[in-house]
Amino acid sequence: MSSTRFDNMAMLVTNDPANEAGDGSPLGLIRDASMVIDADHVAWVGHQTHAPDADVLVDLDGQTVIPGFVDSHSHLVFGGDRAEEFAARMSGTPYSAGGIATTVAETRASDSGELRANARRLVAEMAASGTTTVEIKGGYGLTTDDEVRCQSIAHELTPESTFLGAHVVPPEFRDRRDDYVALVAGDMLDACAPNARWIDVFCDRGAFDVDEARLILGAGVAKGLLPRLHAHQLSRTGAVELGVALDAASVDHCNEMNADDLDVLASSSTVATVLPGADFSTRSRYADARRMIDAGVVVAIASDCNPGTSYTTSMPFCIAVAVREMSLTPAEALWSATAGGAKALRRDDIGVLAVGKRADFAVIAAPSYVHLAYRPGVALVSATWKSGSQMMRVPRSTTPRARY
Ligand code: NIG
Ligand code: FE
Repeated sequence: MSSTRFDNMAMLVTNDPANEAGDGSPLGLIRDASMVIDADHVAWVGHQTHAPDADVLVDLDGQTVIPGFVDSHSHLVFGGDRAEEFAARMSGTPYSAGGIATTVAETRASDSGELRANARRLVAEMAASGTTTVEIKGGYGLTTDDEVRCQSIAHELTPESTFLGAHVVPPEFRDRRDDYVALVAGDMLDACAPNARWIDVFCDRGAFDVDEARLILGAGVAKGLLPRLHAHQLSRTGAVELGVALDAASVDHCNEMNADDLDVLASSSTVATVLPGADFSTRSRYADARRMIDAGVVVAIASDCNPGTSYTTSMPFCIAVAVREMSLTPAEALWSATAGGAKALRRDDIGVLAVGKRADFAVIAAPSYVHLAYRPGVALVSATWKSGSQMMRVPRSTTPRARY
């Protein structure tokens, strides 16, 4: 396997504050940088003037390199869409968990080939906007057979696949919710666990309560799955406290938080994942990520890509919204979308560009990472590399030359 050296970066974001050539900030910024990769990992990072030889040279022509985005929350396996529901919301209809049933019906009616093709299309969109790792949940099948189909597609597409049988109680169990909880924590879990790393519960108004969530997550943990949780999106249920008590890797959404929740999170190893796309597309009050960071909570940003609340695959869009609406600095938002996402997946091999880490990175056609928020809605990612191989490249003619 040959080594490749990337030269002429205006800026390299390493997320490694200890890098000697870096600026010592959490982003570990290096100007006039080079990076060498060897097979699937990073072999050298520093100033171009000290760069070692490599077999292949790539001139990045004044662009910026960042760690690939780690999108730690998505629901990509589904049938149909909910454009009409979105349009109604924009005219004042509030979001409720009930909309999930629409997608459940369309998912059940879709064959596995259609579900797979749709999920693959969305993963390709993600790669085109710089995402190198994505977590994918099931949760739109809600029968054992349909969840098995969805879970196996998620598992084909990522090692970070999540069992979400507890998304909502499906219509046929409306009057027998205890039976549904028993099914999720029993046969459905047993059938899906081989294709899942994580277990999640939508613990909120209109979905599952804290006791149900505790039971289901406990059953998943007993099967070897790791817990994570949809928490405090619509109401303050106590799901954040439950997540911390279970040492969940992440509690996600976190719109309805009080000071106690922040204290509990700050003294835990549970990450708070905010989902700017969901708050944007449900026209909700934005999660207060500024207050979380100021309280010492580790914050991740993810897309929550799903057909109901957040039909975006773009982490740059989520960064721009987090900066504009959640009052994060561009540096904080980028960290949360890369290193923060890695922490939300309990991964230490990604989210950082340092020797020995995975060669997962995105090339931004701009002189600084700040442009990700400064130029909202502009497709700035010119190339995405995962495990040392190029996943996506914009033809050179469409990549503007950066001046700095
Ligand atoms: O993360 N909140 C629960 N689940 C999804 C929404 C699912 C849907 O409405 O289809 C979310 O926002
Ligand atoms: Fe979600």
